Parts: sequence; C-alpha cells; structure tokens
Amino acid sequence: MSVLLTGAAGYVGSHACVELLNQGYSIVSADNYVNSSPVALERVRQITGRDFPAYETDLRDEEKLRAIFRAHKIESVIHFAGLKAVGESVKKPLEYYDNNLYGSIVLLKIMREFGVKSMIFSSSATVYGAATKMPLDEKMPLGCVNPYGWTKFAIEQLLRDLCLADPDFSAVLLRYFNPVGSHKSGLIGDNPSGIPNNLIPYVTRVAVGELERLPVFGNDYNTPDGTPLRDYIHVCDLARGHAAAMAYAAAHKGCEAINLGTGKASSVLDVIHTFERVNGVPIPHFIAPRRAGDADESWSSTEKAERLLGWKAEKGLDDMLRDAWRWQRQNPKGYHA
Ligand SMILES: NC(=O)c1ccc[n+]([C@@H]2O[C@H](COP(=O)([O-])OP(=O)(O)OC[C@H]3O[C@@H](n4cnc5c(N)ncnc54)[C@H](O)[C@@H]3O)[C@@H](O)[C@H]2O)c1
Repeated sequence: MSVLLTGAAGYVGSHACVELLNQGYSIVSADNYVNSSPVALERVRQITGRDFPAYETDLRDEEKLRAIFRAHKIESVIHFAGLKAVGESVKKPLEYYDNNLYGSIVLLKIMREFGVKSMIFSSSATVYGAATKMPLDEKMPLGCVNPYGWTKFAIEQLLRDLCLADPDFSAVLLRYFNPVGSHKSGLIGDNPSGIPNNLIPYVTRVAVGELERLPVFGNDYNTPDGTPLRDYIHVCDLARGHAAAMAYAAAHKGCEAINLGTGKASSVLDVIHTFERVNGVPIPHFIAPRRAGDADESWSSTEKAERLLGWKAEKGLDDMLRDAWRWQRQNPKGYHA
C-alpha cells in the first residue's frame, strides 16, 4: 500500500516525502514539474536512502493518472499540486481554477474509480480572507480576497460535500500558515522561479547577492514596529503535520479543517533582524509602499491541531532562518546549478 503525493517535487511536498519515507511509508510521486524540478526527488532519495516511483504527469491528464492508480495500490492521497502565486492568480484566474480546481476534480474522480477514500489537502490560511480577529481558528467564517484563495475555498467545499455524500470518506484540510526553512541537510528547499513573492526567499536571495536590496512593503501597519505580523512555520514541522494528519485520517471518517501554524507572530523587521543575527549576514533593505491586500496581522490558533493530531510546531524562527540560509548558500541557483 502506498501514499500518492501530488506535487511531491515542490517545496512542501519534497519535505513531506522525506518525513513519510523516514516514518516507513511507501510513496508514489506525481508532478508535472511546472514549478519544481525532478532533482528535488533525487535529493529526497539521497537524504532518506530510499527509492520510490515518480511520474511526470499533469493531474488533468486523466489517462496518465489512471495508469498510476492501476500500477500501484494507493491507500490515500496527499494533494499538494497546485499553482500558488497570489498575484498571478489575479491576472490569470481561469488558469488557476483550471489547474487547481479542475485538477482536483479529475484526481477525486480517479480516486473514486479505484475506491480510494482518504485525502490530505494542502489548503491555506488565505481562506480566512480579511479576518481581523486573532488568532485565526477553524470555526471562523471563510472568505477570500483573490482567485488563488477561492480555488482553495472551492476545493475545501468540494471535500466537505464529498464527505457528506460518502460517510466512508476521510478528508483533512490542512490550512498552512507561512512555511519557511528547509531540511537540515540543505539539499532541498524553497526554489521559486523569478523574483520571489514570499519574504524569506527574497531575504536569502539578497543574502546570497542575487538581489540587491529587500523592499519592506509598508511600515505604517497597526503593529508594534509598523510592519505586518505573520505566523511562520518550519517546513519540517509542517511535514510532520502531514504524517500526523495521515494517522488521523486513517482512524476517522469525515472532513476536518486544521490549521498548521506556530501560534506566534513575527514582523517583517523581526525576520530581517533575526536572519542577520543567526547567520551573521547583513540584509540591506528599504521601506517601499504598501502592497494591496496585506493585512496587519495573521496568526494561527494551534488548539485544534494539538487536540486532534497531537501535533505542535517545535522549531522557532532562529531555526527557520538558519536552515533557509543553509539551503540558499549551498544551492545559490536552486536546483539549476
Ligand atoms: N508555500 C506556501 O507558502 C503555501 C502556503 C499555503 C498553502 N500552500 C499550498 O501547498 C501546496 C504546496 O505548496 P508549495 O509551496 O510546495 O508549492 P510548489 O509550487 O513548490 O509545489 C507545488 C507542486 O505542484 C506541482 N503542480 C502544480 N500544478 C500541477 C498539476 N496540474 N499537475 C501536477 N503537478 C502540478 C508543481 O510542479 C509543484 O511541484 C500548494 O497547493 C500550495 O497552494 C503553500
């Protein structure tokens, strides 16, 4: 019996591969490498000393996906595959709904064909939209502010409806906060193409000299130092959360949404100063105008994850930024060296 990981070669997926292989699971990877490289999977093999089948396929290619389910006895699916650039989703909503939502529909149809009734889904704290009451907890009303978020919202709703229609189905909707850091080996990590959208890859590219200065988008937010507060979570803690969710789904039917965050908030300036302190590398930065849609703060309630999954983040910001820097330093050009 194997676990199918869609989007396994991506940032979070590759770290989850390592965690699951280390815990003794058999895995199968399905990825079209639209935002990743098969080298990440070679590195996973190198870290764990374990081999696994990896298929290059788009989720929307029904025949290829069916062939994977025919070739392997899949017991459950962790569904990472998706496009994730918020700004791009505003410009290309059709592509985002097609890839993320239609891709999920094809996957779920093939799962039904083969009687596979367990899915762990990569959702996002973005489904809380413009909520202002902190910490964000799973009972809060949802609503999104961009097409990327709405694709997550729609897939969550689809999984809730599937669980209502089929009492044997298990779905865990993992709402990630801000994954950062990398495996301690420095062999796998976040590898966005082009100018990074997220803070930490931008910081590490400034540190490595690829980008000159970091723009800090606004310092007049309603926070102690004026820069936005976010809940950053180490990607290895996040990966452990997936293994805990797998165990939960194996023992429980129905649909649960669960936040994966630390419950701690750090500002943009906290990140810059912590990075400089733990790594001894200066991060030249400047204050730029605010970006549309950035909230003052966003951080997670961790109560449900602790109660249902017995999971809690263990690593702090120092670890996250040390590990992010090790990855970037060892792979200045990402996987394309
Ligand atoms: N990293 C974050 O900040 C963050 C936060 C919240 C939620 N998420 C979600 O978690 C998941 C994983 O995120 P990530 O950071 O690892 O992203 P990523 O882009 O590194 O990984 C996604 C993977 O999915 C693959 N993929 C995309 N569309 C595909 C398709 N149609 N068929 C097959 N493969 C496809 C990509 O090639 C890539 O390997 C995504 O669904 C993302 O939306 C990420």
